[in-house]
Amino acid sequence: MKLIKTQVGIVGAGPAGLMLGRLLHLAGIESVIVELRSRKHCEERIRAGVLEQTTVDLIHYAGVGDRMLAEGLIHDGIDLSFRGKRHRIDIRDLTDGKQVTVYGQHEVVKDLIASRTGDGLPLLFESSGVRLAGLDSDSPSIHFVHEGEECELQCDFIAGCDGFHGICRPSIPAGTLTFYDRDYPFAWLGILAEAPPRLPITYQNSARGFALQSMRSRVISRLYLQVEPDDEVANWSDERIWEELALRFEGEDGWSPQRGRILQKSLTGMRSFVTDPMQYGRLFLLGDAAHIVPPTGAKGMNLALADSLIFSRAVIAYFKKNDTDLLRSYSATCLLRIWKVQRFSWWMTSMLHKFADQSPFDQQRQLAELDYVTTSRAAATTLAENFVGLPLPL
Ligand code: FAD
Ligand code: DHB
Repeated sequence: MKLIKTQVGIVGAGPAGLMLGRLLHLAGIESVIVELRSRKHCEERIRAGVLEQTTVDLIHYAGVGDRMLAEGLIHDGIDLSFRGKRHRIDIRDLTDGKQVTVYGQHEVVKDLIASRTGDGLPLLFESSGVRLAGLDSDSPSIHFVHEGEECELQCDFIAGCDGFHGICRPSIPAGTLTFYDRDYPFAWLGILAEAPPRLPITYQNSARGFALQSMRSRVISRLYLQVEPDDEVANWSDERIWEELALRFEGEDGWSPQRGRILQKSLTGMRSFVTDPMQYGRLFLLGDAAHIVPPTGAKGMNLALADSLIFSRAVIAYFKKNDTDLLRSYSATCLLRIWKVQRFSWWMTSMLHKFADQSPFDQQRQLAELDYVTTSRAAATTLAENFVGLPLPL
C-alpha cells in the first residue's frame, strides 16, 4: 500500500478538477488529481464549446489562456431562427461590449493538463477502483489502484469533480442530500464535421424539431439535431443527418449548413439536476458531480469552472487565514448561481424544442416568445446577459 498525503484530493480531471488544481497551485496549496481515464481519452472527449466572457476571464486569470486567445473564435452575437427567418441577438451591443468565445472543452482540458504536467504536479490518470473514506472526519481519504499499486491519498478536503456518473456523490449517505431533477423528452445528436461553418452560431426552432449550428474552428463545424430520447447513433447515416439538417434550417434566405466529412457522432441526454447541499463533511461536489443543465444554454462547462473558482477561494481562506466561513457558505453561494443558470437553460430548451405533447396553443405561445425575445430590447438583453455569463468574483 502506497500512502500519499496532500491538502486537497481531487477526483476527476475534467474542467472542474483541473481548474481547481490550477487555482490552488497558484495560491501555493497542494493537490493530487485522481482520474479514471487515460490522458488521451480526457484530451479527445468532445463536449461543450461555448465559453462565457466570465469563463474566458477566469481562464486568463489562471494563466492558461494563450492558446484560447490565439485559436478561439470570438462571437459578438448569435442568431435565433424561426418561422423561416433568422433574427440576430447582438450580444456585444446588449451587454456593454461582452462576447462569447468558441473554444472546445477538450482544448481547455488539454491546456490545463499541459500546465499541470509542465509544473510537475501530480495527475494520476488511469486510476481504478476509486473510493472515499472518512468523509465526516478531519482526515478523509481517497483509495484507488494506480499502476498496479494500491494507494491511499490522505487529505484535508476532497473535491468531487468526477462528473454526473462519478462515485463522489453516491459516496454520501442516503437521505443526506436533496435532489431536484427534470428529464426532457428528447436527446441531442451531435456531429463534428470537416466543413467550414457558416457563421454565426444559430439556434433553430423548426416544425421538425430543434437544430443548432456551431463550430470548433474555421474548418470544423459542430452541429446538433433534436432526436428521440431513446434514439441511437446507428439510426443516423451521414446522408440522413445532412438531409435533416437542411430541412430544419430551411428558410427564406436559403441558408443551410455546409456539408463535409463527418468526423464524430454522439448522443446526449437532456436533463436538469441539482444536488443540495453540494457538500457532506469534508467532501465538496463541483461541476457535473453536483448539477446538470440541458445544453441549450451552453452552460455546463461554464458552471463547472465557476464552482472551481468559488471552492478555491474557500480553500485558500481556510489554509491562509484559518477562516472556515467560505467553506461553510460554498454550497449556498454556488446554488444561487446554479439555479439562475438552471432557469436560463430550461427556458432556452423550452423555447427552442418541439415537444411531442405540445398543443397548438403551446406552439403559438412558443413562437410568440421567440418573436418577443427578438424584437424587444429588454427581452433580448435578458437573453444576452445570461448567455455571456453572470458575474463571477474574479
Ligand atoms: P466532467 O467533464 O464529466 O469530468 C469528470 C471527470 O471525472 C472525467 O474526466 C471522468 O473521466 C472522471 N471520473 C469519472 N468517474 C471517476 C471515478 N470513479 N474516478 C476518477 N475519475 C472519474 N455542455 C455544454 O455547455 N454544451 C455541450 O454541447 C455539451 N455537450 C456535452 C456532451 C456530453 C456527452 C456530456 C456528457 C456533457 C456535455 N456538456 C455540454 C456538459 C459539459 O461538457 C459538462 O458540464 C462538463 O464536462 C462538466 O465538467 P466537470 O469537470 O464537472 O465533469
Ligand atoms: C455548442 C453547444 C451548445 O450546447 C450550445 O448551446 C451552443 C454551442 C457547441 O458545442 O458549440
